[in-house]
Parts: sequence; C-alpha cells; structure tokens
Amino acid sequence: MVEMSRGKLLRKIAEEILGVENARKIWGRVEIIGDIAVIRKPPDLPVEAFVPLGEEILRKLPYVKSVWLAVTSVKTQHRIREHVLLAGENRSVTTYREHGCVFKVDINSVYVSPALNYEHRRIADLVRPGEFIINMFAGAGLFSIIIAKKAKPRKVISIDINPRAYELMRENIALNGVEDVVEARLGDAAQVVKEFTGMSDRVLMPLPEYSRIYLRDAISALRDCGVIHVYDFVSAEERDEALLKGKEVFSEELAGSGVRYEFLYGRVVRSVGPRYYQVVYDIRVCRG
Ligand SMILES: C[S@@+](CC[C@H](N)C(=O)[O-])C[C@H]1O[C@@H](n2cnc3c(N)ncnc32)[C@H](O)[C@@H]1O
Repeated sequence: MVEMSRGKLLRKIAEEILGVENARKIWGRVEIIGDIAVIRKPPDLPVEAFVPLGEEILRKLPYVKSVWLAVTSVKTQHRIREHVLLAGENRSVTTYREHGCVFKVDINSVYVSPALNYEHRRIADLVRPGEFIINMFAGAGLFSIIIAKKAKPRKVISIDINPRAYELMRENIALNGVEDVVEARLGDAAQVVKEFTGMSDRVLMPLPEYSRIYLRDAISALRDCGVIHVYDFVSAEERDEALLKGKEVFSEELAGSGVRYEFLYGRVVRSVGPRYYQVVYDIRVCRG
C-alpha cells in the first residue's frame, strides 16, 4: 500500500472537517514542529471552527501530540505569535530536528519555523573552514548550530535579545555538542557586535524587519571584506519583481554607506502574504 504524504493527508483532513472552500484558506498555513502542529488562523474563520480539525489531526497523525492555533501574526520584538490550544497536550515545548541537529524549542516564547529549513542548510554550505561568523538574530540557535555541525567555522557568535531564546540556544548548543564553536550572547545585536568590530568573515541578519536598520552595524563587524546575508520583506506583484525591488533597496543603502559591494546571490525565501515576499541576498562587502 502506498502511504499518503503528510501534506496530502493534512489537506484531506482539512477538507473533511472544514469543507473544500475553507480548507483552501489554511493551505500552506499548517506547520509541524516536532510533535506539535501549528495552524495559522485565516482572519475570516472563528477559533471554534478549528477545534474539530485539531482533534482530527491528533487522531490521524499519531505522532502529533498537541495542536495549536496561531491567532496573531508574528509580533513584538521577539517575533512570536499568540497561540490557543486546540487539542491534545497543553505543552508548547517540543524537540525539533533539522539537518541532523536537534533543537529544544518553545512555540509560545521563541520564533521557530520549518520554512527556514532550506536557508539553514544553504548558508551552512557556503561556510569555509576557519570562518568567524556572527548571527545577529539567532532565535533558538538553528542557523548557528547547523553551521557549526555541517561546516568548520572557527567561531559563531550567536546573538538574541529574547532571554528565553538565549536560554534555549544555550541548551541547544550543549545538546548538539558545539560548545567550543558557538557562543550564545544575550542582548541587542547592535550593541553586542561592537565587541567584534572588524573580525567577521560572515554576518547573518535573519530578521527582515531589522536588516536595513542594522546594516551598518553588520558591516562594521566585517573584516576588510566579508559576506552579509540580509533578509527582507518586499511588496510586489510577483516573485521576480520582489527580488529586483529588494536588490534596489539594498543597493541604495550600501551605496550610501561608502562601501564596495557585490550581490552574490538572491532568492525569494517564501511568500508571506498576498503580493508580499520574504527575500534574501548574499552580498560581498568591502570596506574602505
Ligand atoms: C526571525 S527570528 C530568528 C529565527 C532564527 N534565526 C531561526 O533560524 O530560527 C528573529 C529573532 O531576532 C531576535 N531579535 C529581535 N530584535 C533583536 C535585537 N535588537 N538584537 C538581537 N536579537 C533580536 C528575536 O528575539 C528573534 O528571536
């Protein structure tokens, strides 16, 4: 017997419970993080409509132990959503696995998204042995730890301003045995990077809302030349246009910073709303 993929099974469950029309609204809005399922609520359906869906997900996907509904978009400085429990265990902490690494995460207090899975590995694959890296917005440490496990950096400075993210990041560093390479730091990235002026080969800025605001701080952390990975949100009719618009914005920012720069790569990470995209650029920057 051929097993149905998880995506198809979720779609079938949603269609049975919500009807075809409403099921379509949650398509692409369900994430499985460890043994927790999270559904991002579409604005026009009430919370109660999702309770039977949560119960059915628990019945049909035995490895899922609790189902939550995200009732807000990511907000606050810590970039977390508010969730209500739909079914199963009242537990927001789980163990999430990616690229052979293991992460303790808490969906109610730290940002985590399997949608960044590809980016985590893509960046790790770019790292050369001996690099000094700064991750300015590290969350529970996914980029930093995957880089430490998959590449051979000398050091990864892994910063987050959320105390709970810092706490989980420290646990995750130990869980994955990368204490010698990844250094967790609690604080505002703009302040912490001051300690590493002119030291980095690579700076990651995985917080789209801040990457332009903190661009100069990232640049000052680079050696004479280095690579920055900037994430941003862009409004555009379609993906190619988003990629071009984002590039123009960063070109202007960089031109105003008096540095030499070269766009090495760019991609649309995902669509985050109607005509709204998350993009990333890898940019080589040389100071002076
Ligand atoms: C989108 S999340 C990072 C996701 C993470 N890189 C991953 O791969 O799972 C952005 C993170 O930036 C943190 N943050 C927000 N403002 C910050 C600041 N000024 N300095 C350092 N971290 C900050 C938030 O607490 C949040 O954990």
